[in-house]
Amino acid sequence: METLVVQGGSTLQGDVFVDGAKNAALPIMAASILVTGEVRIKRVPDLVDVQTMSLLLQSLGADVKRSKGTLGIDTRDITSQHADYDLVRRMRASVCVLGPLLARFGRASVSLPGGCNIGHRPIDIHLKGLAALGADLRIERGYVIAKAPQLRGADIFLGGPGGSTVTGTCNVMAAACLAKGRTVIRGAAREPEVADLGRFLNSGGATISGLGTSTIEITGVDGLMSITHTVIPDRIEAATYAIAAAATRGTISIHDVQPRQMTSVIEALRAIGVAIHVAHHRIDVSVSDPLHSVELATLPFPGIPTDTQAQFMALLATVPGVSIVTDRVFPDRFMHAPELARMGAVIRREGASVVIDGGRQLTGTSVMASDLRASAALVIAALAADGESQIRRIYHLDRGYARLEYKLNGLGAQVVRRRDEGSSNGPPHFLNNASAESNRPEIQVD
Ligand code: EPU
Repeated sequence: METLVVQGGSTLQGDVFVDGAKNAALPIMAASILVTGEVRIKRVPDLVDVQTMSLLLQSLGADVKRSKGTLGIDTRDITSQHADYDLVRRMRASVCVLGPLLARFGRASVSLPGGCNIGHRPIDIHLKGLAALGADLRIERGYVIAKAPQLRGADIFLGGPGGSTVTGTCNVMAAACLAKGRTVIRGAAREPEVADLGRFLNSGGATISGLGTSTIEITGVDGLMSITHTVIPDRIEAATYAIAAAATRGTISIHDVQPRQMTSVIEALRAIGVAIHVAHHRIDVSVSDPLHSVELATLPFPGIPTDTQAQFMALLATVPGVSIVTDRVFPDRFMHAPELARMGAVIRREGASVVIDGGRQLTGTSVMASDLRASAALVIAALAADGESQIRRIYHLDRGYARLEYKLNGLGAQVVRRRDEGSSNGPPHFLNNASAESNRPEIQVD
């Protein structure tokens, strides 16, 4: 296991470049199963989750190669339609292979992902959507067993209690590409990552319209041909750096972003008093005036992403006044609150909200990361804190942030990665993401 050691108090300054979006790359990789040709996916982030999806595809018989930021995937020789618990339990997004396997081979057995540390995360809507396409589905010994010799287009509603489902829309949209006839998905997720998957599928010959809206229409085709695709920038990574800059009252430029995918985050930062200048593929973040407390609620896109809720909480803990943060997508996603409290934040949980009495000077200490975005929040709090913090269980970070400490140190932070006692006797050192694979815990399912 590894720990991130952060010396607080630096003001972030300079330029940072974001990677491709994890949550676009993963369903795109899974949807490569539909393609009977070569797939080249560019700007794929170097993350443990990407390695896990590669392992899953390889376990099915696919050929997956990485050359710098480009993945080459060839699924023509897939021999298995079985996604084993051992891989699915490591990463929830593994469930994205269900729709593509079913559509191409007429059958699939995919492990249910199991428990999750950001709250209750069923896949009932995925299954409802696939059933509407004509799949025969049953749950047996922890696996979804799906059969459908030929999927048929249907009119489907994918809304749920927390809005639509992002990976559920990916699963049903991908499956509908090879269904006979026309499918209409109502209540579809509008997230840019879903639209990116749609563009990927269209460049292989699928006919999908309405991407980025809540009604997606798909006319089935017989098969998909070779595809070369570039993944969109990671808006959550970009938001994390913007919030980190604000928390340290810094001045940074974030490059390779699509600002239009970040409007709600930019508006929330401006409401807090952070100055944001939006350029073509860049946003400039600076703080010159005092910041204000706010009331924020996460929502499905284009609302404030739940994947930035924890980071906003860390920032608001540093801002004088009472702020309220509500998570309407994952109402229990507050495992970071007690850890932030250990650093001196004054936070009270009330149902799906937290009330933050902000403006205290945070102090460095040892904290435990519970999930990917919670880890990012702890890093932000540690950057703003007085003294040294040790953030334990940082394997969560390696799942979703490529070269986090390199990027932060490039902005003037002081962050080192240390192998925990018992793992090595060496001094603090930097490791790349790939080496985090050996530190993988038993279960991690963001
Ligand atoms: N939901 C259901 N039934 C379902 C599916 C979802 O009730 O069958 C509910 C969930 O419980 C939740 C809401 O619908 O309340 C939205 O969940 P969604 O299905 O959209 O989440 P997801 O597809 O499993 C993706 C991201 C998450 C991100 C959420 C919400 C990927 C690989 N994961 O998860 O990302 O938080 O959408 O935007 O795309 C992260 O990157 O840290 C992360 C957790």
